[in-house]
Amino acid sequence: RPRILSGMQPTEDSLHLGNYIGALRQWVALQESYDALYCVVDLHAMTVNPDPARLRERTRRTAAQYLAGGVDPERSALFVQSHVPQHAELSWVLSCQTGFGEAGRMTQFKDKSAKQGAEGTTVGLFTYPVLMAADILLYDAARVPVGEDQRQHLELARNLAERLNVRFGDGTAVVPEAHIVKAVAKIYDLQEPTAKMSKSTSGGKGVIWLLDDPKAAAKRIRSAATDSETEVRFDPVNKPGVSNLLTIYSALTGRDVDAIAAEYDGRGYGHLKVDLADVVVDLLVPFQERAGTYLADPVELDAVLARGAEKAREIASGTLARIYDRVGLLPAG
Ligand code: TYM
Repeated sequence: RPRILSGMQPTEDSLHLGNYIGALRQWVALQESYDALYCVVDLHAMTVNPDPARLRERTRRTAAQYLAGGVDPERSALFVQSHVPQHAELSWVLSCQTGFGEAGRMTQFKDKSAKQGAEGTTVGLFTYPVLMAADILLYDAARVPVGEDQRQHLELARNLAERLNVRFGDGTAVVPEAHIVKAVAKIYDLQEPTAKMSKSTSGGKGVIWLLDDPKAAAKRIRSAATDSETEVRFDPVNKPGVSNLLTIYSALTGRDVDAIAAEYDGRGYGHLKVDLADVVVDLLVPFQERAGTYLADPVELDAVLARGAEKAREIASGTLARIYDRVGLLPAG
């Protein structure tokens, strides 16, 4: 079976609805037909200098949410990035293949470093996409399910794989393909529906956190920013707020966007929001119950992560040995 890999950063207590619809749901669907590896990228989270106790806690919480969302540890390897030392090792090799200018063109880096200034920006933030390429190439992953905001990072990973194959011979690396499901690849902020849902957009007020109080989440849906018209229609350019609600509604119910729009048209936005709030609550309540079960038993959760890491290390050590050999590192005797 072809292989896929993906990961999320444990930078918050909870994942948000964008992570869920844009990524986690795709992971769950793909694990049926792919040999899947899903990791909690704790090394990536270090770029924002988290409090150590928090980082540890959030790593477990993120893993519990993968499970609550339907990642099946019997089928897929669920692991923590730092438990597999080969990620950091391959990252060094790749950083020696990445142009300084090339890394400097990453838009996420440009945005974040512009906000933080040169002294506040770490070298880790700069090389972040190189570590991400290492995550992917280490498993010879053919596909990488992510949201739209990761497209450029995926392109870098592809370029690096192709470069390795040119410089060190075919078969040094597998060139990965991004798996981005267009209709749901960018869920927008509820208060600022032209920007992606994220904790930094609109001061976090337009985010639905998966582990948030369902009543609070429902309220956020009901007070989502829309427009001054009344027509319910899927039109992302002219009606970004309403269209985003329709996208979320469609993703969570499996119903067609236009069919939902037709059902609510002429009844105003209020009905759409009230019903979507119910749909979201129906997602969150059982999700939180499942996540709670995993979090209540950290010993079992850590055992799942240990099994996942074992499987991941087995693959990763083989790939790293191959690449080390190709680039000319002397094998340890
Ligand atoms: P992260 O942790 O920021 O986000 C995790 C996943 O959620 C997707 N996503 C969204 N999708 C739709 N709408 C949104 N508003 C939204 N916000 C986030 C992201 O695209 C991502 O798929 N660099 C990555 C983590 C990473 C990784 C990897 C991913 C590290 N190594 C290797 C794939 C393969 C990141 O920061 O994602």
